[in-house]
Amino acid sequence: MNYQIKSYEQYQKDYAASVADPQGFWASVAEQFVWRKKWDTVLQWDFLKPDVQWFINGKLNITENCLDRHLAALGDRPAIIWEPNGTDEPHRVLTYAQLHDYVCRFAAVLRNSGVKKGDRICIYMGMVPELPVAMLACARIGAIHSVIFGGFSAQSIADRLQDAGSEFVITCDGAYRGPKDIPLKNTIDDALAACPAVKRVIVYQRTHCPVSMIKGRDVWWHEELQAVSESNLPAEEMDAEDPLFILYTSGSTGKPKGVVHSTAGYMVYATYSFVNVFQVQPGDIHFCTADIGWITGHTYIVYGVLCAGGTSLMYEGIPTYPDAGRLWDIVDKHQATILYTAPTALRSLMAHGLQPLAGKSLSSLRVLGTVGEPINEEAWHWYDDHIGKNRCPIVDTWWQTETGGIMLSNIAGITPAKPGYATLPLPGIQPVLVDEQGTLIYGNDVSGNLCIRFPWPSIVRTTYGDHERCRTNYFAAYEGLYFTGDGCYRDENGMYRITGRVDDVLNVSGHRIGTAEVENAINMHTGVLESAVVGYLHDLKGQGIYAYIIMQSMPDDAAHTQADILQTITRVIGAIARPDKVQFVHGLPKTRSGKIMRRILRKIAEGETDNLGDTSTLLDPGVVEEIMQGKV
Ligand code: WT7
Repeated sequence: MNYQIKSYEQYQKDYAASVADPQGFWASVAEQFVWRKKWDTVLQWDFLKPDVQWFINGKLNITENCLDRHLAALGDRPAIIWEPNGTDEPHRVLTYAQLHDYVCRFAAVLRNSGVKKGDRICIYMGMVPELPVAMLACARIGAIHSVIFGGFSAQSIADRLQDAGSEFVITCDGAYRGPKDIPLKNTIDDALAACPAVKRVIVYQRTHCPVSMIKGRDVWWHEELQAVSESNLPAEEMDAEDPLFILYTSGSTGKPKGVVHSTAGYMVYATYSFVNVFQVQPGDIHFCTADIGWITGHTYIVYGVLCAGGTSLMYEGIPTYPDAGRLWDIVDKHQATILYTAPTALRSLMAHGLQPLAGKSLSSLRVLGTVGEPINEEAWHWYDDHIGKNRCPIVDTWWQTETGGIMLSNIAGITPAKPGYATLPLPGIQPVLVDEQGTLIYGNDVSGNLCIRFPWPSIVRTTYGDHERCRTNYFAAYEGLYFTGDGCYRDENGMYRITGRVDDVLNVSGHRIGTAEVENAINMHTGVLESAVVGYLHDLKGQGIYAYIIMQSMPDDAAHTQADILQTITRVIGAIARPDKVQFVHGLPKTRSGKIMRRILRKIAEGETDNLGDTSTLLDPGVVEEIMQGKV
């Protein structure tokens, strides 16, 4: 790849070129991919609508870039190495040739099931190789996948299925995660009670748990595969701007939104960012511990890695199973060269001390990365000292579901790292800081809201079925800018440090959760009058969830009512949204106009009660006193 940045000088040169002539810059990157037909115009954009199009009228199929392109030179190279949950089961390797064959055959299964270009396919599977196979098979025939994280409840799945108008579901009987067997198909069955439009469910058999298979609707993955023989199903020709996938994510309003990514722009930026940030070399084994149900897995387990001809090491289970040394065993067993994980995982492993590291070599590692939330200095140094042994650069990568790929990060071994800082923008990314009024904040040693002022190839194109929502969410806060929702500090050297969300979005163990979503779920519980949910600093999770709840009458058995409410939240959203703390209160601090003063609730949740800030607009100061007294 001759777009790989090789020196600090080249970084500066490429960055300057990407700003001076973005079209020329991205055309020279895009030329290194496989196109059925080249584009006419590199970029057309208008952030007000928003309307962003890259590589206009270009024709391609991303799977030809991920698979076919590599067959001649890398056919026998592992594309995916899969490590199962249990240590007694053998691992699996899929070479590029085998993955290509598998994807083509499963694409034929989808086509035989009636899937057409543009159809939305819901994928709800555990971390098995068949999950990337399902995604790539969709892309092969031009269907739009919508992967739903295995931790979401039936209700959440039903909402997403309905929002996307999906008629097809691909799932597993169950999933192994640590000591648990999770009944995925059962959850799908519950979801489908509310989704009569779904006409086909393809079930991959993983755990052999008992499942209900409905005649005419549900079929087994392995049986369907036996019926096809296509080992080279031709790829559908896609337009550059055809949607590749939808991925639902939480915002500051109640309902998760379907972030839509396009084919060509996403492909180019996913690959460009992967190759550069991690300084990928031939033979690298890239171990990303994210779940494919999140954007990190889409980009840096599947598309970016495969487009670059890399080897993706994927792990089915959890870092602490069967013990807290598992990740290090996997690194040694498969000689991983790059490890990409989340600060929350590092903190939870740190808590087990150094004993789980005894006897692990970790000498194959070359580059370490973190993603998903700000990393505290203690975790950064632990990662550097004990995992990287002070010889592996750590890249702190800031990005979002909506950005498709890494936006701010140091470049491994090439641009400097600074603990707690995502440091500098990648070429093509033009970050700016603005104040509340949207005025640009110039200079260094300044803080503001982080915006991006120019499109990059993998920017969100729309929110599925509701373009206006995309505009109001990202492009309306500050005219002419993409607003990230994050607060940010730019230090005296121009390095960026993300300080966290400035909207009502929480980041719990690297999972993004909207406070309004949790409140809606709590308010569905019988007897609840009103609730307010805020985040607070949590040692392990980064942020914990604190819920203040008003009941029709104060519960006699608060612990029992709390457990019931948590059960409702698990049903409505999933266990990941369960509050860590619940406090029953008689009232919430409100302004005279009836707005909840969350700032005060956050301060109380964090125990910062000495300085509650301006409370002069409070309708009833007595409420605050009561809440402070009853803090849990
Ligand atoms: C939010 C996006 C990007 C994949 C995983 C999360 C936070 C992400 C960092 C980082 C500080 C980070 C931001 C962002 N975030 N990376 N390196 N340092 N904060 O994707 O679920 O769309 O969440 O995660 O607050 O807005 P996501």
